[in-house]
Amino acid sequence: MISKISFHQSLSACVLFFCFTTADNSAIAQPTHPVTWPGPLVAQSGQRIASGADFDATRRPELLREFAEHVYGITPSQTIPIRTLVTSVDNAALHGEAIRKQITITVGTAPVTRDLHVLLYLPVKAKGAVPVFVGLNFDGNVSTTTDPGVDLNEVWTPDPAESKIVLLGALKDNIRHRPTEASRGSDAEKWPFEAIVKAGYGVATLYAGDIEPDFATGIGYGIRPLFFKPGQYMPDLTDWGAIGAWAWGLTRVADYLVTDPAIDPRAIILAGHSRMGKAALWAAAQDQGPAQRFAMVISNESGQGGAGLSHREAGETIWHLNVAFPYWFSPAFHAYNGRPQEYPLDGHLLLSLIAPRPLFVASAQDDPLSDPEGEFLSAKAASSVYRLFGREGVPESATFKVGSLTGKDIRYYCRPGKHNMLPEDWQRYIAFADEYFHPAR
Ligand code: GCU
Repeated sequence: MISKISFHQSLSACVLFFCFTTADNSAIAQPTHPVTWPGPLVAQSGQRIASGADFDATRRPELLREFAEHVYGITPSQTIPIRTLVTSVDNAALHGEAIRKQITITVGTAPVTRDLHVLLYLPVKAKGAVPVFVGLNFDGNVSTTTDPGVDLNEVWTPDPAESKIVLLGALKDNIRHRPTEASRGSDAEKWPFEAIVKAGYGVATLYAGDIEPDFATGIGYGIRPLFFKPGQYMPDLTDWGAIGAWAWGLTRVADYLVTDPAIDPRAIILAGHSRMGKAALWAAAQDQGPAQRFAMVISNESGQGGAGLSHREAGETIWHLNVAFPYWFSPAFHAYNGRPQEYPLDGHLLLSLIAPRPLFVASAQDDPLSDPEGEFLSAKAASSVYRLFGREGVPESATFKVGSLTGKDIRYYCRPGKHNMLPEDWQRYIAFADEYFHPAR
C-alpha cells in the first residue's frame, strides 16, 4: 500500500485553481478551492517518468497495483473452468442486415456455475474480419433490442414488495425472473445495433447482472464467491468489488470474440456507459501485455470512479459512491469516504493506463453527477502520458466547452443533454473508430 509520505511526494505540479460558473455549465457544481491531484509523470519513488519505456517499466505497474489495492480490488489470478457454447445463429437478423449469434460462457464447475449470455451482431455484408464494439448492458440482452430472436434470459429487478421502502435503490433486494415479451427493447435507445452493423462494425453485449447482479446482496449470485478461498464467506479488505467482476466478465467475452473468425482480433473496441464505463476503463487498464485484447476504449459519462476527478469534489463524491453502492468497489476504497484529498489516485491515472490505445472520453452537459468538466480535465491530464508514446491527446491549450470535439488519440466531447448513451453518441464513436480501423461498408 502507498504510504502517506510517498503519496505527498507523488503530488505533481498539477495545481489548478477553479472558481467559475459559466452560462454553459451553471447547473454544475464547480470547485471553488485549489485542486491538486497526483501527477501521472512522477513515480512513488519521486522518479520523473520521461519516456514511454519509463512509464511501462515503473509507473504502469505501480498504478495498476494501487488501483487494485485502493479502488477496484485485486482481480483473482487463479484460473477457473470456462466453457463457451454458441447457442444460436441467425443469418438474417435486423432486417437482413446482421448475423445474430448468441453465446453462453459458463463459468465454474457444476453445481456452482454462472452463465454469461452474450448477444453478438455482425454485419452480413462484411468483406472480411470486422472490428467489434463490446459493452455491458444494464437490464438484460432482451432490453437492448426489439429483435424477436433474442433469448429471454433471466434478469434481476427490484422486489416490488420493497419498492415503497425509502432506501437507496441498490440496497434493496431484487428478484430474478424471466422477462416478458413486453420488455423487448426497453433500453434499445442505448444500442442502435442496425446503424452499427451498417457502418461495418460488429457489436456484442452482455448483461452485467449475469456476472454479478447490481444490488448489495447480489454478490452471492455472481462470480465473486467462485473465487473465495476455502472458508471465506465475505470479501477481504482488498478483494474485488462488482466493478472488478464486471471488468473480468468483459475480458471473458473478449476471449471469445478473438476466436471468432468473423472478427478482427486486433480491433475489439470496449465501450461503456456510466457504471459500465467504470467497468470498461478498469477492464482496459488491466488488459496489458502481448495478449492485449482491447484496442480502443470508449468512456461514456463514466463519471466518478471512472474518468472523473474525485479531487475536484464536484459532482458525485467517493462517499456517495461507497454508501449508495457499497459493493461496487473494494472495501479498501471506503477509507477515502469524506477524504478525497488523501486519495492517492484518480480518474486521469486510470485513463493513462489505457495509453497508447485510442480513447474517447465523453460527457453530457446535464449530467452534473459525472462532473463533465472534471472528465475533460482528466482526459487532458492523461494526455501527458499519451505524448510519451508519441500520441496526441487533448492539447494543453484546450478549454472545456460543450459541443466542441477536441483531442486526437484521446478524444473528448461533451454533448448537450442528459445522462445516457444515445444513437448520436454512437455516431461519434463510429467516426472515431473509422479513423483507426477503416471497416469496409
Ligand atoms: C448512479 C451512480 C453513478 C453511476 C450511475 C450510472 O448515478 O451514482 O456513479 O455512474 O448511477 O451507472 O448510471
